[in-house]
Amino acid sequence: MFQKATKTQARLRFALCGPSGSGKTYSALEIARHLGKSTAVIDTEHGSASKYADLFDFDVCELTDFHPSKYMEALRAAGQASYDVIVIDSLSHAWFWELNETSKAMNSFTAWGKVRPLERALIDAMLAAPAHVIVTMRTKTEWVLVDSPKSGKPMPERVGTAPIQASGIEYEFDIAGELDLNHLLTISKSRCPDLSSTTHLNPGQELAKRMLAWLSDGVPAPETALEKGQRIRAAREAVDMSADEVRLIMEAEFSRSSPAQLSSEDCDRLIAMIEAMNSAQSA
Ligand SMILES: Nc1ncnc2c1ncn2[C@@H]1O[C@H](COP(=O)(O)OP(=O)(O)OP(=O)(O)O)[C@@H](O)[C@H]1O
Ligand SMILES: [Mg+2]
Repeated sequence: MFQKATKTQARLRFALCGPSGSGKTYSALEIARHLGKSTAVIDTEHGSASKYADLFDFDVCELTDFHPSKYMEALRAAGQASYDVIVIDSLSHAWFWELNETSKAMNSFTAWGKVRPLERALIDAMLAAPAHVIVTMRTKTEWVLVDSPKSGKPMPERVGTAPIQASGIEYEFDIAGELDLNHLLTISKSRCPDLSSTTHLNPGQELAKRMLAWLSDGVPAPETALEKGQRIRAAREAVDMSADEVRLIMEAEFSRSSPAQLSSEDCDRLIAMIEAMNSAQSA
């Protein structure tokens, strides 16, 4: 029943919280570019990520409807397009949508009962995405009195408090942190021991390197059904073979009808067969 626990190589699930201007978008893009080669941004902030298009190379999908299913649709499309990193900037709009839906309802208890499963489905879709995922969340801001280092007198300073999101959502992520208005990131929760309670000024390459070191320290994670499907599709498209022809080979050779039912080794063999058939035809 029990077996020795092993750490598998994983993909990043990172929540970046902070008030407006703290650096959520910029830092997410800066970290993303050091995590992988391609980045997809799901932008809910009226094209705010695209203001950084001259500094960072990424593709963007701008959401104007914040229903969780719209986020999930964009996540699915980004997964199918095999981006290395998906940035959701920001998730707070899904929360605003939930608040709006429930405030309109006659019976808010029943309304929350309908909305909560959608919220859960969106969280599950983020956690299951076949890419590193960085999610930004706005935080409520408050003014507090802080002793000025120059005069020693208390001066008002704007700080971020709780994320504008369902309470406790940051615990769904492997690593969560809060940015302040000096672009100083404080890691508040981390499953990566190396990053626990650390701070990072202008987070970027150095933080991404430490995250990658932690993620790659383990045995390779088993290939997902989506990844197998993507490999097979790329192989058949390269040789102009239809999905039906590939299905016939799968059924004849492996008695299976979908890539999800193949092991990674069988997937390798199927791809080798597709390539061999093509070379035999063109010879
Ligand atoms: N990691 C960083 N390294 C260097 N500069 C940064 C970093 N993060 C933020 N900045 C600076 O702070 C500015 C504001 O950052 P950004 O637009 O990311 O804020 P934001 O938190 O996304 O704000 P909003 O909630 O209004 O969208 C950037 O234009 C950049 O000049
Ligand atoms: Mg932003």
